[in-house]
Amino acid sequence: MERRTIGAASLAVGAVGLGCMPMSWAYCGSRQRGDESLRALHRALDLGSTLLDTADMYGPFTNELLVGRVLKERRAEAFVSTKVGLLVGEQHIVANGRPGYVKRACDASLRRLQTDVIDLYQLHRADPEVPVEETWGAMAELVRAGKVRALGLCAVGARAVRRAGSGLHDGTIRQLERVQQVFPVSAVQAELSVWSPDALDALLPWCTAHGVGLLAAMPLGNGFLTGTLTPGEGFEPDDMRARHPRFTAEMMAANQPIVAGLRRVAARHGDLVTPAHVALAWVLAQGPHVVPVPGAKQERWVTENASAGGLRLSPEDLAELAALPPAQGSWD
Ligand SMILES: NC(=O)c1ccc[n+]([C@@H]2O[C@H](COP(=O)([O-])OP(=O)(O)OC[C@H]3O[C@@H](n4cnc5c(N)ncnc54)[C@H](OP(=O)(O)O)[C@@H]3O)[C@@H](O)[C@H]2O)c1
Repeated sequence: MERRTIGAASLAVGAVGLGCMPMSWAYCGSRQRGDESLRALHRALDLGSTLLDTADMYGPFTNELLVGRVLKERRAEAFVSTKVGLLVGEQHIVANGRPGYVKRACDASLRRLQTDVIDLYQLHRADPEVPVEETWGAMAELVRAGKVRALGLCAVGARAVRRAGSGLHDGTIRQLERVQQVFPVSAVQAELSVWSPDALDALLPWCTAHGVGLLAAMPLGNGFLTGTLTPGEGFEPDDMRARHPRFTAEMMAANQPIVAGLRRVAARHGDLVTPAHVALAWVLAQGPHVVPVPGAKQERWVTENASAGGLRLSPEDLAELAALPPAQGSWD
């Protein structure tokens, strides 16, 4: 697989990463299968999808434990990125960016991941009660202590931003400008896909100008862009798509022209090319410092997604995808 270099710390990873979240969180929890997830993780490393993206919050904690079982055997082949700063409470998810907490959380992540260093440590969300410089300063100390190689920041969630009434990534860029004063940012993680391209407007140009990598979260539109989901099929109550406005039967039907466009482009590249390949190739085409982290718990999807790195979209393909209708339905 093609390798990509992200950030000031020159982190080299396979061009297509693996988002580990669906193995333990947000998707079909009742159907979690540890063995299948382990096979998927091993397959990713076999195929050069070296970037394994997790978070202490996923599970909570069980996702890091799962990744740790693989790292124990194959640490040298993997690039592990995890996240800190969100805690699963009884009722809500809460932010904690206090320096002492961040340092303890890092030690706990290292233990769960069965490693002595985290390649990319990302701030999941800034804590409104703690100046982000203080949280970032604690994370920088972890780099100096050799527990972490580089630092990343996750974009502020779309719902919070829309409530604040500002541009989608304005708040994230303000945070980036502040933390850059304390310690270099190596990567930003933000949603980026054919049906959620907002990061292209200001966030990706910011990353390009500052030599920062972009990890594209949800590059498959939570599975929708793969064309394998049927409008009205329904989701289990613990699957976040059961509450996602773009996944009502009506919105899934309304957004079918986007899947049809991906299918048309795929068909031009041969029978073996799928809408998922095209969706990932579109993300890869946005810049050499962009790395999609498609989430998957099934080995067959990991295999399919890894091969997207070999698909080169033509200018005509990209123009056709750019002309697709905007997605309907949002978190507002
Ligand atoms: N920083 C943040 O705040 C944040 C937020 C969200 C996500 N993320 C990261 O981004 C990663 C990706 O996002 P995501 O997992 O939510 O969404 P995604 O990558 O857009 O989609 C994941 C879904 O697509 C399915 N899938 C994957 N490959 C497929 C294929 N080739 N054909 C058919 N279906 C396929 C998966 O199914 P199976 O599960 O059945 O395999 C899963 O249900 C996460 O794993 C996480 O690491 C970060």
